[in-house]
Amino acid sequence: MTASTVGFVLGTRPEIIKLAPVIQECHRRGIDTHVIHTGQHYSDSLDAVFFRQLGLSPPDTNLEVGSDDHGAQTGAMLAGIEAELHDVEPAVVFVQGDTNSTLAGALAGSKMDIDVAHVEAGLRSFDDDMPEETNRVIIDHISDHLFPPTEETAALLRNEGIPEDRITVTGNTIVDAVQTYDDRAASESQILSELGVTEGQFDLLTAHRAETVDDRDAFERILSGVSRASAQADREVIYPIHPRAEDRLEEFGIAVPDRVRLVEPLGFFDFLRLESTADVVFTDSGGVQEETSILGTPCVTLRYGTERPETAFVGANCVAGREPSGIVAAAAQMRGKAGDWTTPFGDGNAAVQILDAIPKLAVGEAVTATE
Ligand code: UD1
Ligand code: UDP
Repeated sequence: MTASTVGFVLGTRPEIIKLAPVIQECHRRGIDTHVIHTGQHYSDSLDAVFFRQLGLSPPDTNLEVGSDDHGAQTGAMLAGIEAELHDVEPAVVFVQGDTNSTLAGALAGSKMDIDVAHVEAGLRSFDDDMPEETNRVIIDHISDHLFPPTEETAALLRNEGIPEDRITVTGNTIVDAVQTYDDRAASESQILSELGVTEGQFDLLTAHRAETVDDRDAFERILSGVSRASAQADREVIYPIHPRAEDRLEEFGIAVPDRVRLVEPLGFFDFLRLESTADVVFTDSGGVQEETSILGTPCVTLRYGTERPETAFVGANCVAGREPSGIVAAAAQMRGKAGDWTTPFGDGNAAVQILDAIPKLAVGEAVTATE
């Protein structure tokens, strides 16, 4: 390794997808990268499929931490990342988003006095019951380079006293990823015929967050609300189910409404294809709220708030809550919208802007690894 190596710590599906454009932009600049995978996600359908589809090499290291309680999981990651960073001595370590892997990567880098770069900084749900909210606040306050996707998120960082010279608004790297892979999704994915659904004639659902699916009543209410909303338009609902949600369905013995069809978690191309051709997308996912605003598909968010309010400001998203009546009303409001809003998350150049904002990684400055 050389002092010009750039480290990446990632561990879950959305981090792989959203850091891919930054890793690839490093390679375009001849910058050596070292990817540390915490192993928070390990099932092929949440992990390796994305490395394959996005053309990434397998991670340089996989700590194989796996699933556990928050403290045990984050602690094991911290110890493993620290040892790796000692060996690699990267010039900067990138983390993305708000997961336990993100927190562990930022903490390890910060304590070792390595510059920490946080992609997708400044998001706040103002809901302290979400484990991700705690992570977001800590990560932002220990990072050296913060990359909020929008002016709104940058303002939240300034309000918390984070110095201006650490903040660069870049848009979200999910726009880079969608722009890069959307055409391939349209030409290569056979998911519509595999599922036997017709463009514009079905709805899509994702729900995986702890506050949605770990609460039996909440989970039952959202399934009931989505089912009723889709029944009004005679749509079937396709639900690629995250393993956490699948475990809870079984544990709680919840009967899934007939209108909702469970399928395995999908690869990025198949999921993008469904997202761009669904009539309405119901979700509690952060990434899905963003992607629907990029793809022009109406979104109903199954939460009482969102750290992505920009999607609602442009008319792409209705934050419905978890009561069936609210979900039905939100779907009626969103269904049939033209989808001609402008995404609030930038023009697809986020990765370039992120690297340009770090002087030692900017074009013309990067030193190619010589090992
Ligand atoms: C994590 C993030 C969440 C993010 C989501 C992306 C935290 C606190 N949560 O939630 O913010 O939105 O990833 O998808 O970091 N499991 C598998 N296979 C896997 C991984 C998990 O079967 O590869 C199952 C296990 O039963 C595990 C459960 O899913 O207990 C939850 O996994 P975990 O990583 O703890 O949280 P996520 O719900 O995936
Ligand atoms: N996604 C996917 N297959 C699926 C469901 C989601 O590829 O079956 C992708 C989706 O395109 C988005 C990301 O996973 O880029 C969102 O991840 P998730 O909802 O797990 O986490 P969040 O964004 O809420 O943290």
